[in-house]
Amino acid sequence: MNETLKLLKSHQSIRKFKEDPIPKAFIEAIIDAAQMASTSSFLQAYSIISIGDMAVRSEIARLSGDQKYIVSAPTFLVFCADLHRLSLACKKQGVPYESGYAETFIVATVDAALAAENTIIAAESLGLGGVFIGGIRNNPKRISELLKLPDEVYPVFGMCLGFPDHAPGPKERLPKKVVFHEEVYKDADESVMDAYDERIRAYYIERTHGKKSESWTESISEKIAHETRDHMKSFLESKAFNRK
Ligand SMILES: Cc1cc2nc3c(=O)[nH]c(=O)nc-3n(C[C@H](O)[C@H](O)[C@H](O)COP(=O)(O)O)c2cc1C
Repeated sequence: MNETLKLLKSHQSIRKFKEDPIPKAFIEAIIDAAQMASTSSFLQAYSIISIGDMAVRSEIARLSGDQKYIVSAPTFLVFCADLHRLSLACKKQGVPYESGYAETFIVATVDAALAAENTIIAAESLGLGGVFIGGIRNNPKRISELLKLPDEVYPVFGMCLGFPDHAPGPKERLPKKVVFHEEVYKDADESVMDAYDERIRAYYIERTHGKKSESWTESISEKIAHETRDHMKSFLESKAFNRK
């Protein structure tokens, strides 16, 4: 296995960090790598905001379900889908711009996600670790106000980065044949899912010393079966995203 594959296979979310700050040269290299992610039609429809102000960080942590590592991480980034800059480009060219398409909402969100994945991979390659923070979408309106996001910019997720102070270990993913289909889509065999469920249950029991013992389907059904962040539709529309 080459070094890149080894790095990708060893990914694990890090939620405990040493106090050491991330050297500036590392941040530069990481953001350079983020910017080299593929981007739909070369639109580069995202922005990354680094939050150094600890009062703002504390407020973001509070708004994101009290996730303490938002404060304890040496670096905290917010990845935004950004169509605002594209509207300015059209203005510069004197071309009428129409906002609100579902398609451009997808484009900008995917662009932000691709840049973020490059970010965490680049960070891990430098011996850092991190975790995405979707929790910022618990209160996207307040977060947008704090970060002074204009219309057509919305916070997709945050990311904590720093030198790891624990090693929870990689989490086993679904069996390849469950997510990788040949020619046409096919549901996984029940026995394959049953076996995976039991392996994840065993993983949680070991990792949490018995405090958590859910299988994969138990854990995800609890998360996905109910309304999740049902404020997002009206919030996105209020920021001129996904109106048509
Ligand atoms: C978009 C996104 C949002 C996430 N939000 C959170 C979060 O708010 N808090 C958290 O602790 N982990 C969060 N995670 C981390 C996931 O829980 C984690 O990636 C997943 O459980 C797999 O574990 P691993 O990254 O250690 O392999 C998020 C991950 C992604 C991709």
